[in-house]
Amino acid sequence: MESSVIKLQDIFQTYQGPAGPVEALRGIDLHVPRGEIFGVIGRSGAGKSSLVRTINLLNRPSAGTVRVDGVDLTALDGAALRAARRDIGMIFQHFNLLSSRTVFDNVALPLELEGLRRADIVSRVLPLLELVGLCELRDRYPAQISGGQKQRVGIARALASRPKVLLSDEATSALDPETTRAILTLLREIRRELGLTIVLITHQMQVIKQVADQVAVIDVGRIVEQGQTLNVFSRPSHEVTRSLLDDVVPQTLPEPVLARVRAMLGGVPASQASLLRLVFAGEESDQPILSDVIRRFAIDLNLLHGQIDEVQGQPFGALAVLARGSQDQLKATVAHLRRSGVLVQEVAHV
Ligand SMILES: Nc1ncnc2c1ncn2[C@@H]1O[C@H](COP(=O)(O)OP(=O)(O)OP(=O)(O)O)[C@@H](O)[C@H]1O
Ligand SMILES: [Mg+2]
Repeated sequence: MESSVIKLQDIFQTYQGPAGPVEALRGIDLHVPRGEIFGVIGRSGAGKSSLVRTINLLNRPSAGTVRVDGVDLTALDGAALRAARRDIGMIFQHFNLLSSRTVFDNVALPLELEGLRRADIVSRVLPLLELVGLCELRDRYPAQISGGQKQRVGIARALASRPKVLLSDEATSALDPETTRAILTLLREIRRELGLTIVLITHQMQVIKQVADQVAVIDVGRIVEQGQTLNVFSRPSHEVTRSLLDDVVPQTLPEPVLARVRAMLGGVPASQASLLRLVFAGEESDQPILSDVIRRFAIDLNLLHGQIDEVQGQPFGALAVLARGSQDQLKATVAHLRRSGVLVQEVAHV
């Protein structure tokens, strides 16, 4: 079996806008490994929806090929394309439920369209309602349930035709943080139980942080950075990535903190102090590294700013510290931190 379930090759998408052509995708290559939750993040207008809609050919790309589970979708149309699309479920920001149908009947809809018999429909829909935790609400209408519950209906409906791939375009953007967490947890469970591959489009790093194994950053129609989530969080290389990361992993020090540093450094020679940004990822964050360097090298350490968190269930932290001591002590401190696996960035003096 091929290891990449989705393969996009050299995808271009040009729309005819009122003011002339809009190049929304400009040469996208993307391989999504089977069973992964693959995040795509970008700012508004970057091309995220255009990208995800090419995967099921809701938008036919202007150029390039789309392969899902070995099938070249761009070579299909009509009945063959409709059949291939059953392998690809999709969920949306605004749920797209039919208001005149109950929860049960919304989930049943794709199966009715496939022409299944009522008894078969019932035996497929009930376990799905169970999976998403909606059995009790099966006879309610969309207007009678919450946003999080509506998205659960959307997920159950997307799973009805037993897809191999689930596409999610900002599926949690209309939900509060707690409901978002619950929906993301559900997506993780579904991935595990059904062995599904999930492509998750978002503009929020919080979402990437909670569920994505891998993340690709899209900007102006191109993938500008891609990697394992923990690696991208530790060493973002593109300006857009850093700016999107800033609210979950502070990239720079806020002005009030800088002002405090200037006050602390009043009269201290520049060679006797280092402003350091430390990034801890994975195992080493469990070690008492900071107290260790304070003891070993007799330096003073002020914790200025930062965050310790989890990314994909792994400990992760980014801290800004002010270290004071002799030049030799400071050098030894930085060397020791690096040996211990901490990413150390020396911030230029303020
Ligand atoms: N049908 C269309 N006709 C013309 N231009 C379009 C069309 N759809 C999208 N665009 C343009 O293509 C670009 C990418 O749009 P897209 O919707 O893919 O971005 P996005 O990353 O999903 O943005 P958002 O986060 O706001 O949803 C934008 O400049 C948008 O204005
Ligand atoms: Mg969009």
